[in-house]
Amino acid sequence: MHLGVNIDHVATLRQARGTDYPDPLLAARLAIAAGADSITAHLREDRRHIQDHDIERLAAEPFPLNMEMAPTNEMVAICVKLRPRACCLVPERREELTTEGGLDVVRHQTRLASVIKNLSAAGVRVSLFIAPDPAQIRASHAIGAPVVELHTGHYANLNSEAQQQELEVIADGAKLAASLGLLVHAGHGLTSANTPAIAAIAEVSELNIGHAIIADAVFGGLPQAIANFRQAMVR
Ligand code: PXP
Repeated sequence: MHLGVNIDHVATLRQARGTDYPDPLLAARLAIAAGADSITAHLREDRRHIQDHDIERLAAEPFPLNMEMAPTNEMVAICVKLRPRACCLVPERREELTTEGGLDVVRHQTRLASVIKNLSAAGVRVSLFIAPDPAQIRASHAIGAPVVELHTGHYANLNSEAQQQELEVIADGAKLAASLGLLVHAGHGLTSANTPAIAAIAEVSELNIGHAIIADAVFGGLPQAIANFRQAMVR
């Protein structure tokens, strides 16, 4: 199973101060060196975290980049120009804190089919970020998507029995998607506590995880950061 690390949150920290650090490219290189299989970065329409120069530099690296983006003309043009290994199409609303729901593939079949065609022609493997809903999975297959990423955000927000039920919905969705010949990825809201059950779904071949990895890294890295500043003070 592949692990894609989303480094948007490193850019969020940088943008909060308008500094040139922390650099998401450095985070990407560290993540790959530490065992990540690919890097995911979301170039949002409002450029709230990842900037154009970030995505350009990430696309020039040797590791596989999964560019997350809304299926707009602007983003398609950038993606066709940069040709990352993969692209995950997501819905985007300006007022949301993060990607809140999956794409409505059933409703936007024609538009999405044309975006998939353009990106595939540029050699980019396209995945559609969708709820684990049979209708959305079938529609994704019907319009020629090679990959679906099943939204685990709802699962992550639930507890006990309700979470178990949503896990079954995701597992059934993964089975259906795989039976249609789709590659199945999953992501959103995954933590070290709720990841094992998703990782146990045999049909899921990739997880994309961001927020909780960067959050955990704060605590893992704090002792080293304090030591560095102690040394700097002594110097
Ligand atoms: N996959 C997709 C399609 C996403 O939009 C996101 C959030 O940017 C993730 C995975 C990662 O979610 P999180 O940051 O909650 O781990």
